Amino acid sequence: MRPQWGAMIRFENVTKRYADGTTAVDDLSFEVAEGELVTLVGPSGCGKTTTMKMVNRLIEPTSGRIFLDGEDIAAVAPVKLRRRIGYVIQQVGLFPHKTVLENTATVPQLLGWQRRKGRDRAAELLDLVGLDPSVYGDRYPDQLSGGQRQRVGVARALAADPPVLLMDEPFGAVDPVVRERLQSEFLRLQSQVRKTVLLVTHDIEEAVRLGDRIAVYGAGRIEQFDTPASVLGAPATPYVADFVGADRGLKRLSVTPIEPGDLEQPPVVHLDDPLAKAAARLSADGARWAVVLDDADRLHGWIPVDAAAGAGDDRAAGTVRDHARRMEAWLPVGSSLKRAFSTMLQHDAGWIAVLDEDRFLGVLTPARLHEALRRSIDADAGGIARAEVELQTVADA
Ligand SMILES: Nc1ncnc2c1ncn2[C@@H]1O[C@H](COP(=O)(O)OP(=O)(O)O)[C@@H](O)[C@H]1O
Ligand SMILES: [Mg+2]
Repeated sequence: MRPQWGAMIRFENVTKRYADGTTAVDDLSFEVAEGELVTLVGPSGCGKTTTMKMVNRLIEPTSGRIFLDGEDIAAVAPVKLRRRIGYVIQQVGLFPHKTVLENTATVPQLLGWQRRKGRDRAAELLDLVGLDPSVYGDRYPDQLSGGQRQRVGVARALAADPPVLLMDEPFGAVDPVVRERLQSEFLRLQSQVRKTVLLVTHDIEEAVRLGDRIAVYGAGRIEQFDTPASVLGAPATPYVADFVGADRGLKRLSVTPIEPGDLEQPPVVHLDDPLAKAAARLSADGARWAVVLDDADRLHGWIPVDAAAGAGDDRAAGTVRDHARRMEAWLPVGSSLKRAFSTMLQHDAGWIAVLDEDRFLGVLTPARLHEALRRSIDADAGGIARAEVELQTVADA
């Protein structure tokens, strides 16, 4: 009997306790609608893989029940159950001695399809995941890149056209650029095939990008199960706020530009200034260093206070040029805070110069970077507060 609400996957008070006493999943209840893509996200060890493996009976629950399309899976033979469930894991597990086409046709073959039909279906799936079967079909797995192998894994999981797809960190093993491409391709694929998908990831960004809904896991429990917008905009618990917040801040770094108002103004000296003048400038400001510009006001570098002031009698006669150090860490104004941060790390610099074309505008320090981040978060919080007020008004009307 199918449940009225059309849930394809339903967990009912499911608990999994391992033999050593570890409670991996604790009284879990949730539903995944037909054609829905739900991401399970949370830190390592919180029970995501355990949850997933209980769906295809690679792991048996200690208590509770799991339904697939209305049917209690405890009553379905595992082999039969798994025909209805595609499974994609990070270490794709392709057979090294089989070609890409043969690998993709594995399940149809196991199901006893005619060889021809299985291979046609495999070719169709390879095409669907962006691998031209006439180019890649006869290759062996070790002749593919990591991203291509992952695509074959997805094609193979879909080959027997199962209604449900389980994916455990499917894009975890490839580099970030490839991962983003695979994510986009998978979204496009899913819009065509509309499988019911459970996808495990520890990456909140991936969870938000792919999921129709997200289950945020704490230790063995779901802390929030909602749309990406709700999870990001209205975290249900301090734990969720913390989990999405940490990454939200990083994401925000990449979309917040450096503005002139974020910059600090250290003392500025010029290459041809006498050293004594630079020393006076620095001591007047109580600064540890000054920015050094050339006579066209372009950034040259910096000079530390001891080089300027500690210049005994002979060196006092020199100019800033003799003691200036080159400055490699600089960025154009408008660069993202993320780029600023990464430049600081790359050059191991406590500050970086910010330029408008050739013109020196000021420097960004870690403290100023932090303030800039606060500025953007406060602006955002204001936006949310206003949106809520407007919703309130609509509801009241
Ligand atoms: N076979 C096992 N025996 C004992 N404990 C296990 C076993 N598999 C996983 N665990 C434990 O169960 C918890 C959840 O593991 P897992 O479901 O793999 O988490 P995740 O996929 O979120 O990283 C962890 O504490 C893990 O150490
Ligand atoms: Mg896992």
